[in-house]
Amino acid sequence: MNIVTNSAHLSALTEKFDAIFGDHASVDYFFSPGRVNLIGEHTDYNGGYVFPASITIGTTGLARKRTDKRVRLYSLNFEAMGVIEFDVSDLTKISGNWANYVKGMISVMRAAGYTIDSGFELLVQGEIPTASGLSSSASLELLVGIMLEDLFSLDVTRLELVKFGKQTENEFIGVNSGIMDQFAIGFGEIGKAILLDCNTLNYELVPAEFGDNVVVIMNTKKPHDLVDSKYNERVAETQEALKRLQVGGLKISTLGELTNEEFEANTQLIGDETLIKRARHAVHENQRTKEAKAALTAGNLEAFGKMLNASHASLKNDYEVTGIELDTLAETAQSVPGVLGARMTGGGFGGCAIALVKKSEVDALIATVGKTYEEKIGYPAEFYVASIGAGATKLDVD
Ligand code: GLA
Repeated sequence: MNIVTNSAHLSALTEKFDAIFGDHASVDYFFSPGRVNLIGEHTDYNGGYVFPASITIGTTGLARKRTDKRVRLYSLNFEAMGVIEFDVSDLTKISGNWANYVKGMISVMRAAGYTIDSGFELLVQGEIPTASGLSSSASLELLVGIMLEDLFSLDVTRLELVKFGKQTENEFIGVNSGIMDQFAIGFGEIGKAILLDCNTLNYELVPAEFGDNVVVIMNTKKPHDLVDSKYNERVAETQEALKRLQVGGLKISTLGELTNEEFEANTQLIGDETLIKRARHAVHENQRTKEAKAALTAGNLEAFGKMLNASHASLKNDYEVTGIELDTLAETAQSVPGVLGARMTGGGFGGCAIALVKKSEVDALIATVGKTYEEKIGYPAEFYVASIGAGATKLDVD
């Protein structure tokens, strides 16, 4: 993965646009990042807090409007698919095709009353590994959103685009995800993490100051496997737990409204061990996220790191979304000197973990975790140092 918004990279993409679409007259350039979540996992669709940040790796798009109704798409990540073409009014899903993210965005934006009535050409290149838990799909959704906003001069707010991204994921792609990824990508700022209350959508930009430490992303590279259905299962489990608490008399509309103590005093209303564990994670992780933000703001990185570790343990034992690959990465990292904390990030079941580590110990971390991972899992992990970059934006290119 490289940082893609440099001019050499854009020139190469422009040449590719020429090769695919003939020339690049009137083309515009867009960039949409990926995200890491520092803490607050599987809390967004439970009405809790999340604490993500947009990163400098993401998806780049080159686009221009057409005068006819043809949409022509090309991805450097799926070159074998060639140019995907459809009429701008033909928004039927194509099985297993990345174009569904484009179709989905057009579809939900049209349904909301925005006029997208002519075709366009779009070339994209994604630097975020698919299924890495760094939100390659939300990155693409927001890229398409800001591109449509610009090409069709739409008077659409950033929050609307964020919600359209989520709606595309939920209604078009079929994953019942929360709003964290699209929000982090839509509202990200350089050097800032976002404390977002997913119940109210109030948010605070928090300086992500880690002193002598950096966030290292550790990728399991585990092949994508039923992740979406397992994700939807967790959503359903926490909804069921919430329903049982409500039926039992609690006046709440989300699990995020409960303190740890209130939850623990009422678990008998849920009455099922698995559902109690799922809901316990959602409630405790939500409290932990608020405390972690306070620790970071106070400069108490030791405490912040301990909460990362506690978050991983809860995702492993109560939410059961980690697996041997993520556990090996996070737990091995936790034992390396100079590591303040480590946990899985994103939806889980594979994808990435993060470690907060002293800059001077990054190489040692990569060597130790890399060796243990390969010995235990049988293939190598990948490591990147994360930089917190800007949210989705049109690029200024001469
Ligand atoms: C995925 C989803 C998010 C969020 C995380 C888990 O990234 O898209 O909405 O639920 O998993 O925190």
